[in-house]
Amino acid sequence: MAKTSHVAVVGSANIDLTTFNDRWPRGGETIFGERFDIGFGGKGANQAVAAKLCGADVSMVACVGNDLFGPSTVENFKAQGINAEHVKIVEGVSSGVAPIFVDTASGQNRILVVPGANNKVLPATVDAAADRLKTADCIVLQFEIPLETVYYTIRFAHENGIRCILNPAPGQPVDMSQVANLDYFVPNETEAEAVTGIAVGSVDDAKRCAEKLLGAGIKRVIITLGSMGSLLAGADGMEHVPAFEVEAVDTTGAGDAFIGSFSVFLGEGLEEKDAVRRANLYAGLSTTGVGTQKSFLDRAAFDAAWAERG
Ligand code: RIB
Repeated sequence: MAKTSHVAVVGSANIDLTTFNDRWPRGGETIFGERFDIGFGGKGANQAVAAKLCGADVSMVACVGNDLFGPSTVENFKAQGINAEHVKIVEGVSSGVAPIFVDTASGQNRILVVPGANNKVLPATVDAAADRLKTADCIVLQFEIPLETVYYTIRFAHENGIRCILNPAPGQPVDMSQVANLDYFVPNETEAEAVTGIAVGSVDDAKRCAEKLLGAGIKRVIITLGSMGSLLAGADGMEHVPAFEVEAVDTTGAGDAFIGSFSVFLGEGLEEKDAVRRANLYAGLSTTGVGTQKSFLDRAAFDAAWAERG
């Protein structure tokens, strides 16, 4: 029986407002869209839900607004069985929202994030949750909260001997000296480019990127490459881990599915490459459904898929 790990996510919670269409308006133009979907999202919240569905105990540290969306976001965490003691409803700001545009032909997404209350996740928020965070086996971070808080939490995890995984999304320039103590740095192609300046269109590009990141002091890098799979890199070498073939209808949240599930597979004691392979499948399968959290499989469904395809 695998160990139940405790994953803590310090990160964002958004409401996703997703429009599906095969073309997009030009400036000054109005056109009809095909379909709309609303759901709970935010990279942090999605990663927390993926970890919970994969079987971990999960704690969330986040902020939402006192508006239509905030209280229901807190309820969603509770309904999922996630500890939401440190999800705060703050006054005077909106909840985070994400208008998302999904191309119906390819399933590819374009996302705008309006952070709102996510910007209120401050080092003091982390201090307030410190006792809970100290009980975690792994802390997971993204870039949808202030960078100051991300760097502070990396230090916190390091000082307390807790594994720390950073998903630098959305992509932005990073102070490398602040992230050297991470256990895993997990960008996708565009995020890797934002950090290194190297465009990633192939596995070889990803290798060049990973080399630069390792050279800057990061210990382990995983670059997720969508339908090309993932690249796992460390001082001991680099390995391309291919993706599983799926019929994608909506790729939104696939990176979050990868990170949340990877944190659990690793926490269960699986060998790193095996954890990446499983996370590749978990993320791939999430693209076969619409939305983010609601497209994630629970553990029983994932184990059945793994038994068939793994
Ligand atoms: O990674 C997908 C997520 O990015 C969406 O849920 C959206 O809220 C943005 O945070």
